[in-house]
Amino acid sequence: MDIRTGVVNGVATIEIARPQKKNALTAAMYQSMAEALLSAREDASVRAILITGQPGIFTSGNDIVDFMQRPNMGAAGQGSDAMDSPVFRFMRALLECDKPVVAAVTGAAIGIGTTMLLHCDFVYVADDARLAMPFVGLGLVPEFASSLLVPQLMGHRRAAERLLLGDPFTAEQAVECGIASAVLPAGEVVNHARRMAERFNALPPGAVREAKALMRGPQREELLRTIRHEGELFAVRLKSAEAMEAFQAFFQKRAPDFSRF
Ligand code: COA
Repeated sequence: MDIRTGVVNGVATIEIARPQKKNALTAAMYQSMAEALLSAREDASVRAILITGQPGIFTSGNDIVDFMQRPNMGAAGQGSDAMDSPVFRFMRALLECDKPVVAAVTGAAIGIGTTMLLHCDFVYVADDARLAMPFVGLGLVPEFASSLLVPQLMGHRRAAERLLLGDPFTAEQAVECGIASAVLPAGEVVNHARRMAERFNALPPGAVREAKALMRGPQREELLRTIRHEGELFAVRLKSAEAMEAFQAFFQKRAPDFSRF
């Protein structure tokens, strides 16, 4: 299984486990993660959710083979059918999750690997973590409301470095700009994140739910609108010659050449 799930001591864990492809996320994996989030929400014994990857790799983002083969499914896509695509279902389930979500990030968190963190409540990053949102360099546009949330978090100037240039950033920088909660040694990050998630076993779940809804509620519609708008543009970009050049360059292990555009 590329996504492993389980509930232990009040914490539902979603573990991304496709290390041979650097935890790249396929449509089937988004579907599993969406289902896990929804069932964690329904299960009264679950007090918090933990999202984690493998040692040295959180996720390399959307599977680029999927991007090339199923361009309508890559992001939220176009039209109402695509809005029901697995990635959009995952985004919606995370956005609407009414229980605390804790992420433990070791190694690379690329593309949606970083943008999903914007929707988690606690984000612990290992000292070896490397985050990046290289959408533009792939001929794409930002997704998962990152075009709205990243400038809000760090201001337009620093967001431009992250979103227009796609520059990677370190664990310390992720904390400094508000994407992450704290940096930990790589060997400790998952246990620390789990301990933080388990703290919710001692708190009243109704009050936690209401407090999270108060914190997230005011922006919910705006976030959904942004995700849809980004998704429409993303689906168009996925079919662009610029994106094709970037995807082919990745698999041919060469730098892309955009000089003819
Ligand atoms: N989609 C599909 N396959 C991917 C992938 C992705 N996002 N990321 C890695 N892989 C595959 C590679 O093609 C390679 O497959 P192979 O063994 O069959 O050749 C395997 O995973 C190992 O990746 P590799 O690039 O050799 O590992 P690395 O340690 O040198 O680099 C990364 C790791 C994560 C830095 C690098 O794989 C990377 O940049 N991936 C793409 C990130 C990206 O642009 N994602 C899309 C964001 S929108």
